[in-house]
Amino acid sequence: MKTQLTFDSVPSLSTELLVILAADTSISKEKSAAPAQPILLTKDPVIVSAEKPALTSGEFSAGSCETLLLYAPPELKAKRLLILGVGKATKISISEIRKAAGAAVRFAKPRGIREVTFVLPEHESLSLAAAARAAVEGAFVGDYDPDTYRSDRKDRAIEKFILVVPASADKAAVEAAFREGNVLGESQNFARVLVNEPGNRLTPTILGERAAAMCKEQGLQCEVHSTAKIKELKMGAFWSVAQGSDEPPALIVMRYEPASAPKDGPVLALVGKGITFDTGGISIKPSDGMEKMKYDMAGAAAMLGAMRAIAQLKPNVRVIGIVCSAENMPSGKAYKPGDISVAMSGKTIEIINTDAEGRLVLADGLHYAKQLGATHLIDAATLTGACVVALGSLNAGIFSNDDAAYEKFRGALEISGEKFWRLPVDDEYRDMIVSDIGDIKNTGGRYGGAITAAMFLKEFAGDTPWIHLDIAGTAWVEDSKPWIAKGPSGIAVRSIVEWVRCYAG
Ligand code: BES
Ligand code: MN
Ligand code: ZN
Repeated sequence: MKTQLTFDSVPSLSTELLVILAADTSISKEKSAAPAQPILLTKDPVIVSAEKPALTSGEFSAGSCETLLLYAPPELKAKRLLILGVGKATKISISEIRKAAGAAVRFAKPRGIREVTFVLPEHESLSLAAAARAAVEGAFVGDYDPDTYRSDRKDRAIEKFILVVPASADKAAVEAAFREGNVLGESQNFARVLVNEPGNRLTPTILGERAAAMCKEQGLQCEVHSTAKIKELKMGAFWSVAQGSDEPPALIVMRYEPASAPKDGPVLALVGKGITFDTGGISIKPSDGMEKMKYDMAGAAAMLGAMRAIAQLKPNVRVIGIVCSAENMPSGKAYKPGDISVAMSGKTIEIINTDAEGRLVLADGLHYAKQLGATHLIDAATLTGACVVALGSLNAGIFSNDDAAYEKFRGALEISGEKFWRLPVDDEYRDMIVSDIGDIKNTGGRYGGAITAAMFLKEFAGDTPWIHLDIAGTAWVEDSKPWIAKGPSGIAVRSIVEWVRCYAG
């Protein structure tokens, strides 16, 4: 999808599909109490007067993602005009603009319309730069469909997304934001393409190749290691998971090192869980729904997407990306419940359940990151079903041993529009993962499963400021929405990039 930014006046634009937003100005909370009062979110007098009959018809109430399509509006050069609702006027937000752009693109796609011209609303409480960035992000999010393997559905992507910004805007700020939106939207979709790949098409080795190709393209340093290096580094926890598969594991190390970054400044490490398929191993999962476990590398994909965006946005801070990738398989070589693994840090781990494999690969990834000089750690993983039970699919889980790092992430969420909810990692929970046989065990019993998994990781983060993102419930969209397809979501890419930018010197 190509994108273009223009400050031209709307009636003069000849386009396949012109999209104007509308909001509901009625004040009553109850639907029945007062009829909706939709207004167009543009000050252009030509459009406002031309669309008056449509808006006063009572057929359109400007609810969120509600649409009204008009053909060949006489006063405009556009072939079609789509009026798109954003809900209550009092609740308009940047997130709503992002969704609307996605919904506009997803309206056009199945109708064979290849060009979308999206008009940013004029609204006192919205920054036009922030809205421009969100609209472009939303358009990319909407344009993606998981159709890599659908011979009947390919080539339906939008060719051109044109963003129209009121001429009153701060043009330089809008241009910069527009570019950021492009980088972030493309990087999020880069992650989604990887997450959609099935286990047979994306082994750890292939994930390593895809990472290396991305790094080459973006000018990042990249090394991809396998079994020999993992054994040499004594990554016993990582190897325990990898040993059961015929597919060799991959340890991917990416580096972004701007020359101008202060020598004693922070070094951020982004550590991703890259289980390309999780059968559960000897503690095998039930077959119902097991096909979904191809997305168990969504944390790794988020880090690859984030590194891609960082390479382009060039924040002045050093960043290391680490992906620990393996396939979790049952076999004659597989690790077993009761086994003892010795992590790279030297801690001994009693294996209770071979399906709790993500924390094992991340344990060594986090320790290695510190050894490479990381001063701040962030990991992303589809780590626990318990996190899905706790938060459902709306919020992802966030855990941290450091309030300052967490606060930066919370600020990042205000820009990215993604939803994360903090869960505790109090030291008192540690009792739940103490082992009788070794130092710690890899599961914590029946209750608080997302927390005990985080406690396990916290052991390896130690005193280094650390954030853990459990994206098990949010990395895959179960039901399509007007602005996003069913399938991989690309969650966390935008927030992680924004968090990294907080540390730029
Ligand atoms: N990859 C799964 C977690 C998961 C569950 C991701 C559902 C996405 C959707 C993880 O490796 C796992 O199997 N976790 C176990 C841990 C348990 C054995 C302590 C779980 O959550 O059941
Ligand atoms: Mn598992
Ligand atoms: Zn897993």
